[in-house]
Amino acid sequence: MKVIAVVNQKGGVAKTTSTQNIGVGLAKLGKKVLLIDFDPQGNLTSGFGIDKRDLNYTVYDILKTRAFPGPEISVEKVLLEKDNISILPTNIKMSKINIELGGVPGKDNILKEILKEIYGFDYILIDCPPSLDTLTFNALTAADAVYIPVQAEYYALEGISELMDTIDMVKQRLNENLKIAGVFATMLDKRVKLHLEVIKELKKFFGEVMFKTLIRRNVKVSEASSYGKSIFDYDEKSHGAQDYLNLCKEIVEREVN
Ligand SMILES: Nc1ncnc2c1ncn2[C@@H]1O[C@H](COP(=O)(O)OP(=O)(O)O)[C@@H](O)[C@H]1O
Ligand SMILES: [Mg+2]
Repeated sequence: MKVIAVVNQKGGVAKTTSTQNIGVGLAKLGKKVLLIDFDPQGNLTSGFGIDKRDLNYTVYDILKTRAFPGPEISVEKVLLEKDNISILPTNIKMSKINIELGGVPGKDNILKEILKEIYGFDYILIDCPPSLDTLTFNALTAADAVYIPVQAEYYALEGISELMDTIDMVKQRLNENLKIAGVFATMLDKRVKLHLEVIKELKKFFGEVMFKTLIRRNVKVSEASSYGKSIFDYDEKSHGAQDYLNLCKEIVEREVN
């Protein structure tokens, strides 16, 4: 079982889109996948066509009831099945958690403890919020590996050094085994010279950690999530589906080597 946190404190770089499509892509390759929506905005949840307002329990309830005394909400109570994968959904209620966990001892270890109760998955992917907050710390503490989606644009590397510092800090204090296992470029337009230059910069900076697969900008990708579907269920022949499937193949190959 490999636990991967999909992290970048920048918003709009395709964390959520990538978590969804990598999740469904890995399931297409025969893997058992659990996706955890860890962003209070709940975009991953709605990306699967799940009505966020209609949830009795969410990830929030699992976290909250483990942080404080009283009966615990089980993982099974929250778990949903969609498109051959399992999802722990979230909604805006979770935005309270950073404040609520404020003085709780061991507040960064809660997700790690929860994952000890979960069996039978090849991959668990955590879609993180666009901030370096308690939720992101929980994800980084629980994870074996970090994937960083980077948008191919002028300011691509902006914020990356802050993110690296945070990951180093988590390694020192909370999770010595954490490693950056993958970086991939998103929303790439090969006709834009600047984008290709950014890719070069990323390769120089990240070396082998950078995935070879580049995720191209493809309107079908954004249409898919607005219809509550993965790219594979929306348009299997699209560039978006091809790119995400190639990325998934690379992910699986890296496990073997
Ligand atoms: N390959 C792509 N082609 C076109 N649009 C994309 C692509 N990937 C993501 N998007 C769009 O970019 C926006 C930001 O993506 P999102 O996954 O929500 O980012 P984040 O989770 O990092 O904030 C969304 O509107 C999404 O539909
Ligand atoms: Mg998101």
